[in-house]
Amino acid sequence: MVERDGCDRKLSKKSRRSFPCSSSIIIACLQSVFLIFLITPGCAQLVVNVKEKGGDVYKEAINANTTAETVTLEFKRSDGTFITQFIDFKNEIQIFKALVLGEEERGQNQFQVMCYITRFIKNEFISADAMSKLRQKNPGALRTPEDDKGQEKHQKDLLVDVERAEAITPHTSDICGDAKDTTYARDADLKYIAKSLNKDYAKMLTATSRPTGSVYHSPRCTLVQDLFKSCVCRYELCIGWYPCGLKYCRGKDNSGKVISYRCGIKTCKKCRMFEYYVKAKQMCLWDEEEKPVQML
Ligand SMILES: *[C@@H]1O[C@H](CO)[C@@H](O)[C@H](O)[C@H]1NC(C)=O
Repeated sequence: MVERDGCDRKLSKKSRRSFPCSSSIIIACLQSVFLIFLITPGCAQLVVNVKEKGGDVYKEAINANTTAETVTLEFKRSDGTFITQFIDFKNEIQIFKALVLGEEERGQNQFQVMCYITRFIKNEFISADAMSKLRQKNPGALRTPEDDKGQEKHQKDLLVDVERAEAITPHTSDICGDAKDTTYARDADLKYIAKSLNKDYAKMLTATSRPTGSVYHSPRCTLVQDLFKSCVCRYELCIGWYPCGLKYCRGKDNSGKVISYRCGIKTCKKCRMFEYYVKAKQMCLWDEEEKPVQML
């Protein structure tokens, strides 16, 4: 029988909607762990148990909206950090959001939210349509990715005004409404997208501003002692498991002709190191040099 796990589980306010689940689903390929169905079911959420190398397990929820052509992947790490990856396929944009719990004893807010707006490269993630058709045979299984794509460095040289960023993606204020002064982007990404989609680069740029210091030339936060001094902050964000491509199976149709059809997914892990200028080291307290271990 087809499992419909995930439809009832909620990880965030955004996914707290009820999805009508279709029961008349046809299985396309039985050998595969992940199945792509021929009929689009109404229920479009997948919940996956991801196991990290260190042994930590977390639940990842992936929602696809085929009308808007968007995918939202979210999970909460064991340290309390809440991560969102949002992909807007039409606008070739993806947004990475991190909600990091603060250290109150060091005068920080209870939490900090950062949004990193990044160019979406085609075929980095399966389409919203393929995502909406994905189900797993064994929802309780612990998943590890087949392919580790390593780490990518992203230097962000723009601040984004989330209320005015419709030209970049109309979803910016939904996703980054709680990161008003901490949403970052890269000039080169906007230029690239403007070319690729024939959009108005100048219009996209009006929703951004240059920070007062340079991400390329300011000192790293690890080298700054004073919590009120500016520096370049680093934040590493890893997506431990995601569908990065489709697998094809061969079979025969009714007339005996050999056909190839989508029957499963390739899975990947990818990390991104975001670098950006902050006005005060206070905004970047996680980014510290490793302290030498004290020997007993
Ligand atoms: C999907 O996107 C459409 C168009 O943006 C929106 O109207 C609809 O509410 C979305 N559906 C869900 C389940 O979020």
